[in-house]
Amino acid sequence: MLMNCWYVAADAIDVTTEPKGVHMLGQDLVVFRDSAGKAHCLSDVCVHRGGSLCRGKVVEGTVECPYHGWRFDGAGNCVAIPSLGPDATIPKRARIDSYPVEEKYGWIWVFLGDAPEAERPPMPDYFPEYEAYEKGETDEWAFVRGNFIFECNWVRAIENGSDHTHAYFVHTDFGSPDSPVASDYDLDIDEAKIESVGYATPTKKRGLWAEKIDENRPDVRTMVHINKPAPSIRIEMHLKPPMWQMIVSGYTPIDENRTRVWFCQGRNFFTDPKYDADSRRRVLLVFQEDAKVIDHIRPAMVPPTLSDELALENDKHGIEFRKWVKSQEEIGRAIDLKAAEDEDEMVTVIPSPARHDDPKNWVLDPVATKKPRILREAAE
Ligand code: FES
Ligand SMILES: [Fe+2]
Repeated sequence: MLMNCWYVAADAIDVTTEPKGVHMLGQDLVVFRDSAGKAHCLSDVCVHRGGSLCRGKVVEGTVECPYHGWRFDGAGNCVAIPSLGPDATIPKRARIDSYPVEEKYGWIWVFLGDAPEAERPPMPDYFPEYEAYEKGETDEWAFVRGNFIFECNWVRAIENGSDHTHAYFVHTDFGSPDSPVASDYDLDIDEAKIESVGYATPTKKRGLWAEKIDENRPDVRTMVHINKPAPSIRIEMHLKPPMWQMIVSGYTPIDENRTRVWFCQGRNFFTDPKYDADSRRRVLLVFQEDAKVIDHIRPAMVPPTLSDELALENDKHGIEFRKWVKSQEEIGRAIDLKAAEDEDEMVTVIPSPARHDDPKNWVLDPVATKKPRILREAAE
């Protein structure tokens, strides 16, 4: 699991002036809104005696610990210690990690890492249809959203989401094992994205969609776009032009072995809200079909080198993502949760940007990270 990335933490609508606990990247976090409606994300662990802040309440824009009532503002600074009285000097170490938050596409995104603003990767910018819909500028689109948990590692899950050839065997509504030959595709890669466009043989649709999307149609243009530093995927499927759908999904590791996928599907057909339940059911069916396979792949984690599995040319999209994850591990951005578990009497936290300039005067230690290869080899 990588630090210094943007992750979807919650549906924006669910983040209110009631503190909400979120478990991601093996960390306990609390999200809440202040009185101006701005969303904040802090480590959930109170540095006094370990109270769980999400079980407290929001008072005057601060989150109040349920144990002794210390209050922390959105920046993570303690602003009140009731037992010391109103004129108390607050100790410098009475602060907790606060993570940058952005609200976009109906989600609360949290930057889990210590990179200062100038060094942070930009937020994804790949969903203009949703932004137009949010602003009331279009009625061309209908959207459904939700989330689904894979019992598998997040890199395995993203590789699955970008896999052009599994649909023939895994997804009954998008492919058939009778015509499994996949088209070639090229990759378009930059700092943030890995993108590919393939063409799939159309299959017979079932249920409601069969009325409009019959078999008499061209190969289905399928665009897959991975955003690396905000682990997420946009998939476009041009089912029967001009009818098409896109699914944008944020992949958030809960821990090494579980991944929550936050999805928002848009479609420019059957846009009446009465069709939403059917659309949501179809998206969930896709994830359920994937889960039947990817919840059981071995090893659970992506193996250490590329030659430990036999990748084909068609697998290059996922492999490119795997290489990027490895590159991040090599610069010390991968959390070593096992090391953290070995010290189970300790709570460790992902360092926040405030630690970058001021690494001292923190109560909790930063989480252990996997050693880059150069250091591992030096130690051997
Ligand atoms: S544990 Fe939070 S105020 Fe004491
Ligand atoms: Fe799939």
